[in-house]
Amino acid sequence: MSPFGGWGLLSAFLALLCCTGSGEEAFEVRMWPEQLMTTLHKTLLEEQAQWKLYEVFNVSQDTDVICHFTCSGKQESRSLNISVFYPPKQVLLKLWPTLVAVGRSFTIQCRVPSVAPLEGLTVTLLRGSEIVYNQTFVGTTLSPQEAMVTHNTTAHREDDRHNFSCRAEMDLRSRGGDLVHSVSDPQALDVYEPAQDNQTVIIITVVSVLLFLFVTSVLLCFVFGQQWHQRRTGTYGVQAAWRRLRWAYRA
Ligand SMILES: *[C@@H]1O[C@H](CO)[C@@H](O)[C@H](O)[C@H]1NC(C)=O
Ligand SMILES: *[C@@H]1O[C@H](CO)[C@@H](O)[C@H](O)[C@H]1NC(C)=O
Ligand SMILES: *[C@@H]1O[C@H](CO)[C@@H](O)[C@H](O)[C@H]1NC(C)=O
Repeated sequence: MSPFGGWGLLSAFLALLCCTGSGEEAFEVRMWPEQLMTTLHKTLLEEQAQWKLYEVFNVSQDTDVICHFTCSGKQESRSLNISVFYPPKQVLLKLWPTLVAVGRSFTIQCRVPSVAPLEGLTVTLLRGSEIVYNQTFVGTTLSPQEAMVTHNTTAHREDDRHNFSCRAEMDLRSRGGDLVHSVSDPQALDVYEPAQDNQTVIIITVVSVLLFLFVTSVLLCFVFGQQWHQRRTGTYGVQAAWRRLRWAYRA
């Protein structure tokens, strides 16, 4: 994982200003930028009698740079600590559910993978340009890790007309850097009136009742039809027996 993210091969410059002449004169060493730099591979860019300018690359962890110099036979050194940061490159927003009834709750989640330091990172959840929620992280975790913010909120009718987004901003000003930020892709929320919910329930109830009545009447027809049929065949049976009886008398 390369530090500095989108900054790619950002390099820092180390400038040294050494003593100018006789041993009695005060000398000064300056390194720039004072707080935010990288080291390891370095190339000398420019050199003059009193200073050298280096470009240094690809530091993967916080480190110290030490500059040794000799002035009028006296050896001195200056050190500088370098902070490596992992800016928010990817900001991932998720809404669930994405279809919500007005007044119902839904969840907004924003994830920012591989950021460091967490301290000074602010994650803001937005509806259009309006801030829904924000959280500033605390603590000084140096290794890159995922920052996650989860917020539950209630769906409003006007949420339908706005996109939600998430903005991650890293404030490196206290370390001599800048504000670095990144924004997620927009996400839409589908909001519907709960009245539609009731209508659906009413329609389902009415259809169920009608279906029940239909099935019941078909069953009743079948049962009564059977009984009627039996009664009719029963009568024929009696008549047939009567007829047989009369034949028997005649005979
Ligand atoms: C710095 O890192 C990048 C990718 O991580 C690599 O391409 C480049 O060669 C490295 N530069 C030096 C000077 O090591
Ligand atoms: C948000 O709501 C879900 C259930 O709907 C719950 O599981 C979760 O803990 C809630 N999260 C927060 C941050 O309140
Ligand atoms: C929401 O985002 C989509 C996709 O980026 C875009 O097409 C649409 O115009 C946006 N809507 C609003 C209201 O900003």
